[in-house]
Amino acid sequence: MGIDIKTIGIVGAGQMGSGIAHVCALSGLSVRINDRDTDRLRNSLATVNGNLQRQVVKGTISEDERRATIERIVPVDSFDDFGPCDIVIEAATEDEVVKRQIFSALCPSLRPETMVATNTSSISITRLAASTDRPERFIGIHFMNPVPIMQLVELIRGIATEDPTYEAAKAFIGKLGKTVTVSEDFPAFIVNRILLPMINEAIYTLYEGVGSVDSIDTAMKLGANHPMGPLQLADFIGLDTCLSIMQVLYEGLADSKYRPCPLLVKYVEAGWLGRKAKRGFYDYRGDVPVPTR
Ligand SMILES: NC(=O)c1ccc[n+]([C@@H]2O[C@H](COP(=O)([O-])OP(=O)(O)OC[C@H]3O[C@@H](n4cnc5c(N)ncnc54)[C@H](O)[C@@H]3O)[C@@H](O)[C@H]2O)c1
Repeated sequence: MGIDIKTIGIVGAGQMGSGIAHVCALSGLSVRINDRDTDRLRNSLATVNGNLQRQVVKGTISEDERRATIERIVPVDSFDDFGPCDIVIEAATEDEVVKRQIFSALCPSLRPETMVATNTSSISITRLAASTDRPERFIGIHFMNPVPIMQLVELIRGIATEDPTYEAAKAFIGKLGKTVTVSEDFPAFIVNRILLPMINEAIYTLYEGVGSVDSIDTAMKLGANHPMGPLQLADFIGLDTCLSIMQVLYEGLADSKYRPCPLLVKYVEAGWLGRKAKRGFYDYRGDVPVPTR
């Protein structure tokens, strides 16, 4: 049997790290969370608290549960504070160099038996595992956004991932009340291999002038019954993350059909990264989102 996971470390307190902290703490697990940006770390706790408060208002959790959950999340400044963790989940920026640097700095602070996971959307688990001192205890645990709402978690083994690591990760996801699907270690796994080319194509449709932001999103919501338009979804994911995933697909599969749309590149270069930057295909700075094209 694998390790019984009770204490979780999280690196990266952005959209995903905060969501992972929320569901783990709500399930009774102890959470330690780190970000290199202290403002992001502070905002993360406020975001989790706000989302828990909404659950209290909806009646899905009690006020006591909210208080106990938030008390189980401890922000930490240093990887040395991850000593007691049974698993550390990396949920930092979708950039292989950033992730590799995190793993090299993180591993010396961990007990030998501690598992390490990545929430990467697309990058090779085998390659990331190779930048740790424990590839056999390394695995891809790909949560979906927003974590408290989305049911699915993709599990991806690297070439060296051992069975007890896989079993412990599967049991951990089960404890969170989520459903596991298993993907082989191919660029962008299952969900993003299918979803991101669709989003990229929606951006090409905008780029080529086939339709406006509003027409494209309305077309896909009402014509294909998607709950969100693809451009709205791109803003929600983060345009930097969308671009990184397309680059991983393009380079990893060496097929021109995955070429990132130049308009996506331009938005990222402008710092228009979607909701988290308050501007992307929509401008979120006012009361209602306004299409930017
Ligand atoms: N956004 C999504 O819809 C989604 C869904 C599933 C998986 N993911 C994956 O989750 C990861 C995080 O995505 P996100 O949307 O939360 O991004 P984000 O931009 O909201 O957050 C990333 C965080 O990582 C922090 N960070 C960067 N380098 C760091 C370092 N060296 N040490 C500590 N913290 C560091 C940043 O300060 C930031 O707070 C990415 O790998 C992404 O591909 C994203």
